[in-house]
Amino acid sequence: MHYQPLGGTGFDVSDVIVGTYKGGGEFAWGAINDFDTIASVQAYVDAGTNLIDTASGYGMGRAENMIRHALDEEGGARRSKTKIMTKWLVWRGRDEQITRSVSREALAEFCIGSKARLGVEKLDVVLLHNDDEVTPIELAVETLAEYQAKGDIDWIGVSNYSLEQLEVAQRVAPLQMYQPLFSIVDPELRHDGRLQFCHENDIAVGVWGVLDRGRLGARLKRPDEYSASDGRRNRSPEHYAADRRVHEQLQKIADRQDMSVAQLAIAWVLSHTGVTCALMGASTPDQVPHNVAASGKRLSSDVVEECEQIVKSASA
Ligand SMILES: NC(=O)c1ccc[n+]([C@@H]2O[C@H](COP(=O)([O-])OP(=O)(O)OC[C@H]3O[C@@H](n4cnc5c(N)ncnc54)[C@H](OP(=O)(O)O)[C@@H]3O)[C@@H](O)[C@H]2O)c1
Repeated sequence: MHYQPLGGTGFDVSDVIVGTYKGGGEFAWGAINDFDTIASVQAYVDAGTNLIDTASGYGMGRAENMIRHALDEEGGARRSKTKIMTKWLVWRGRDEQITRSVSREALAEFCIGSKARLGVEKLDVVLLHNDDEVTPIELAVETLAEYQAKGDIDWIGVSNYSLEQLEVAQRVAPLQMYQPLFSIVDPELRHDGRLQFCHENDIAVGVWGVLDRGRLGARLKRPDEYSASDGRRNRSPEHYAADRRVHEQLQKIADRQDMSVAQLAIAWVLSHTGVTCALMGASTPDQVPHNVAASGKRLSSDVVEECEQIVKSASA
């Protein structure tokens, strides 16, 4: 496992870290199995990954609870091997409606809830999942920084903010972590100044969406291979045909690098200066060794460009 500095914190984080979005079981991921979620988290930690990403909104607490179960088994031996990063924004209100808030009151509830669900007295890393479009960014970041100053949270950050929002946030309090979307098919991060901003301000960057919800998986699944409640089953024939063209082209490059398409996709994001780690989920523990094998792999700038050109030509 390859490790690199998490910004200026002094902590070395694995370049592949654990994602638990699917383990929450909401938002059209199809049927999920909690035992597989727990076993996948454990397999990642056993392989040497040392940061688990989650959010209170993943299954409205379900993913955070699964992490607690995964880390408490076998006498809690895995607790000391990994840190946990959670995100606050989305919750289900008393009326069962999904709400999005980073107000002072919402963050107070998230703080109590995340600690209980994760089974910790202090949170390692907390990010604002996004702007709620009501609370001023200054107020949300200031509130998060107050929790950090009080010792409830070690490191703070934001996810999905634009460059302008990042600049506002960083003026309020120094951030340690930023979590944006980034993949061969969503490459904007490499062109719009956010990576450079984070690099210059010693903010670690952990990226999500690397496998494009499985479309850049080791094997491209047909829509009809997904279960009835999985939104990926509804991919149109035109979109699936485009996915196949991209996958086949990337497979040729992956073969040259002695990698799978999934490993190429992971190495592609990690080959950018400023990217600290790739957030990788898994439906079942057998996907874990495959993803972890991409740790430490980097591509030449020519190969990075070649991959992006393939996607551009496919969508032209
Ligand atoms: N900050 C944010 O807004 C945000 C948003 C989304 C995600 N995230 C975080 O980032 C993590 C990663 O999320 P993601 O959306 O990129 O998806 P992902 O959780 O990495 O995985 C997506 C799907 O890829 C497939 N997969 C994983 N490893 C595979 C492999 N080796 N070969 C083939 N298929 C494989 C699985 O699909 P199957 O179901 O087909 O097995 C999996 O469900 C999340 O778990 C979450 O922690 C953050």
